[in-house]
Amino acid sequence: MPERPYVIDELISAKTIAARIEDLSREIAEEFAGTDKLIVVGLLRGSFVFIADLVRELDLPIEVDFLEASSYGDGMESSREVRILKDLRGAIEGRDVLVVEDIVDTGYTLKHVSGLLRARKPARMKTIALLNKQVRREVDFNADWVGFEIPDEFVVGYGIDFAQRNRDLPYIGTVRFT
Ligand code: IMP
Repeated sequence: MPERPYVIDELISAKTIAARIEDLSREIAEEFAGTDKLIVVGLLRGSFVFIADLVRELDLPIEVDFLEASSYGDGMESSREVRILKDLRGAIEGRDVLVVEDIVDTGYTLKHVSGLLRARKPARMKTIALLNKQVRREVDFNADWVGFEIPDEFVVGYGIDFAQRNRDLPYIGTVRFT
């Protein structure tokens, strides 16, 4: 539980997010046109709202699976050590895979998870992140699709938490301590 009181300032509205997801879905459907069944892999827990909206816009046959990697804990800083807390249920060898992440910050999480999944020899693997904090990058990794470039601010909402709170906000907001 965060000890200091804070307020949340809206950064990206629910309407703007929905419009961007429509565009991204079209691009993804073009990229994977003709795929047998795309496996959409959500990285828990921050991507759960994004993946739910994305798959409902995607005009493709899909399966959904989830993977949980360790992240920030309850703090505001990346641990930079990525551990897999929950692995995929299914095999991905020879399959088309889309990995869905909420935010790429230092880049450690998505780089590590991509390497791990690539070693399982999918036919094709792409990554999408709703948000990208480019200035925070510490490793050489970029998602194939990014919803929004955002500044170096701590954000919450639309599935993203601060110490497990605020995931239920329909928009993305920045945390400001008062
Ligand atoms: P990275 O490994 O540093 O790229 O961190 C990625 C993960 O850190 C994301 O999936 C989020 O769980 C978490 N994260 C990064 N920035 C924020 C933020 O502003 N708010 C909440 N979680 C964040």
